[in-house]
Amino acid sequence: MNLPVPVVSAARIHTALLGGAVFAVDRSVAIQLTNAVPWWPRAARTLHEQGLRMAAHLVARGFDQVLDLGCGLPSPSGPLVHEIAAARYPGATGARTVYVDRDIHAHAARRIGLVCQPGSDGSDAVLADITATEDLLEHPAVQGLNWRRPIAVLLHDVLPWLSDDAATHLMAVLRHRLAPGSIISSTHLLSAPHPYATAPLVQHHRKAGIGLWPRHLPAITALTGTWPTYIHSGPGRLPVCTLLTRSPGPGRFARPAFWPFPAARGREHRPLRQPCAMHQPRQTTPRPLPTAKDTQ
Ligand SMILES: C[S@@+](CC[C@H](N)C(=O)[O-])C[C@H]1O[C@@H](n2cnc3c(N)ncnc32)[C@H](O)[C@@H]1O
Repeated sequence: MNLPVPVVSAARIHTALLGGAVFAVDRSVAIQLTNAVPWWPRAARTLHEQGLRMAAHLVARGFDQVLDLGCGLPSPSGPLVHEIAAARYPGATGARTVYVDRDIHAHAARRIGLVCQPGSDGSDAVLADITATEDLLEHPAVQGLNWRRPIAVLLHDVLPWLSDDAATHLMAVLRHRLAPGSIISSTHLLSAPHPYATAPLVQHHRKAGIGLWPRHLPAITALTGTWPTYIHSGPGRLPVCTLLTRSPGPGRFARPAFWPFPAARGREHRPLRQPCAMHQPRQTTPRPLPTAKDTQ
């Protein structure tokens, strides 16, 4: 019997870099990437670990609804987001996590993980393209979240896999639809020169048919619009950053205490030099929501 050879996938290459089991075709690309860009597995792992840490932080801060966009395959080493949430809010009506990915293997693995986890009744997994954001938000599983209450949206190591237009549109729609008090947590690969040059990484991904968009910090913060944002870059000189973006409104918004440097207000962001900063929005009135046509 001839089984189809799976096309290489960003989700599975990522899992290979984290030490998980994948198809030979993905492992082979992961090895080529590692040979060409030796710091990349460390950066991928750092982005992943920071994402999990932010998920735990947000759940501990009271978020019982989590929308994990571009969730990828389950972590080979760390805890799963719905497990973190279910541990904090046990019971059938406790926490709700909705996983979304366009990768069929990531989707299937998330589904299996939910079926095998007692007490995850309110959680679900959706196979969808997050750049068709309006359609995604109409999906019954996503609608199952209470959009009148705060939601923690996770975009962990996902925005660098979206073009500028797609990332801008996704973030604009989320900001428009989320209730006050909601948070968007994101991690991002930064554009960087030698010795962490990201250009070869982009080229090698392109050869494998995968688009990758590392960005400079101003371009990343621009995605957060007028929402107050804390940024943490690093650790060390790795070209990665973590952003915590909160819908304006009542309630305290603080940087995570485990970020090592105190927030500096109103200073310009400098990738790799300023480890933590408070993004001061210049605009105070919300901009109209762009349509898909505007952002194409
Ligand atoms: C580098 S992985 C990150 C996985 C996970 N969030 C983490 O932190 O480990 C990027 C994920 O984004 C998903 N992704 C990229 N573009 C997407 C899109 N347009 N729609 C849905 N998922 C997407 C990929 O399939 C992949 O699983």
